[in-house]
Amino acid sequence: MNKRLDIGTTLTSSATKVMLLGSGELGKEVIIALQRLGVETIAVDRYPNAPGHQVAHRAHVINMADGQALRELIIHERPHIIVPEIEAIATDTLIEIEREGIACVIPTARAAQLTMNREGIRRLAAETLGLPTSTFAFANSLAELRTAIEGRIGYPCLIKPIMSSSGKGQSKIDHEADLEAAWNYAASGSRVDQGRVIVESFIDFDYEITLLTVRAIGEHGEVETHFCEPIGHLQVHGDYVESWQPQAMSQQAWQHARDIAQKLTDNLGGLGIFGVELFVKQDKVWFSEVSPRPHDTGMVTMCSQVQSEFELHARAILGLPVNTALRAPGASAVIYGQLEEQGIVFTGVTEALRVPQSDLRLFGKPVSYTRRRMGVALANGADTSEARIRAKQVASRIVPVKSTN
Ligand SMILES: Nc1ncnc2c1ncn2[C@@H]1O[C@H](COP(=O)(O)OP(=O)(O)OP(=O)(O)O)[C@@H](O)[C@H]1O
Ligand SMILES: [Mg+2]
Repeated sequence: MNKRLDIGTTLTSSATKVMLLGSGELGKEVIIALQRLGVETIAVDRYPNAPGHQVAHRAHVINMADGQALRELIIHERPHIIVPEIEAIATDTLIEIEREGIACVIPTARAAQLTMNREGIRRLAAETLGLPTSTFAFANSLAELRTAIEGRIGYPCLIKPIMSSSGKGQSKIDHEADLEAAWNYAASGSRVDQGRVIVESFIDFDYEITLLTVRAIGEHGEVETHFCEPIGHLQVHGDYVESWQPQAMSQQAWQHARDIAQKLTDNLGGLGIFGVELFVKQDKVWFSEVSPRPHDTGMVTMCSQVQSEFELHARAILGLPVNTALRAPGASAVIYGQLEEQGIVFTGVTEALRVPQSDLRLFGKPVSYTRRRMGVALANGADTSEARIRAKQVASRIVPVKSTN
């Protein structure tokens, strides 16, 4: 669907309707951006009162991996556009929906399917497109895993379930003694496909970036590719804790990064934003993975860009013009639940927002876990060092406590 959509009136028969599959903190911001453009929004998640449910016109709770349930809901709501926000979706159903012309899937049903599984996207990137990646192999058993490591991969290496995110089930191991534990951990952290893993050689990068890449319609109706400034980030146990924009890069590394993102997104096609994850060592760049949707590390763009990654996504999928310009150096720092409780209270918000040029998002997740992301601190500064210090200060002043009500 490379055409502009006229926007109707919400809650009337002319409404332009967008359905979000997954309504966490990223979906919530996409919904807010769409609402501002007069779009009717339908938020879907697997549990009630998810962040996006709270700001959408309608909210539904279904298991999105259940193809039948997903199809029924789509037929009931008849959205013009379907926006996958998570990976664990019945993508075969999305392929049918797209083929039958029922709705447009963002960016394409094929891209959603390829990227939900580390194998699909890694084979496309390394084997079909010839992009530089870590050395990798797939294994269905501990014995196969051992053979792969002893043969081509070596130590240290990373073992990951082929279907997982946010570092779940993932470990880095330095020697054979830790292999069995890593295998068992991967099998337990896998979302759907129990017991298939990817093993990757460890890349000793200087830093890693997310390159937000937007496919949007240009003035003459053709798809144009736009790049945001690189986002640097820090990961702990495979989960992002801090991000900043712009990340300084050599001219050559920046060129390689854009070349990789261009080749990949050209192949995936469609409209919208992609979070391309890259590792950088001096002038060398490796592709790691890509999400065909806004990226968690990209939350920093809510303070650092003229249009956040959510606004960019909303505009791009509607066929509207985008502007990926930086506004000011910025940083984000994650606020964790720190408690295993329902309905927690965030104390210290006043003190937190006394930090100069700071801002905050609290997602409204009904249940807190120790390492669940419950909010994000944002800050600008003269440069990213100042912004990072401020964002961390904001996050550290927020103290979740148990409700006394
Ligand atoms: N081959 C590798 N060499 C070095 N570090 C790696 C490698 N693979 C992953 N990492 C580190 O682990 C982090 C998480 O890996 P990856 O992105 O594959 O996992 P994920 O579960 O998909 O995480 P997320 O969903 O948060 O993006 C990376 O951002 C990087 O810091
Ligand atoms: Mg990742």
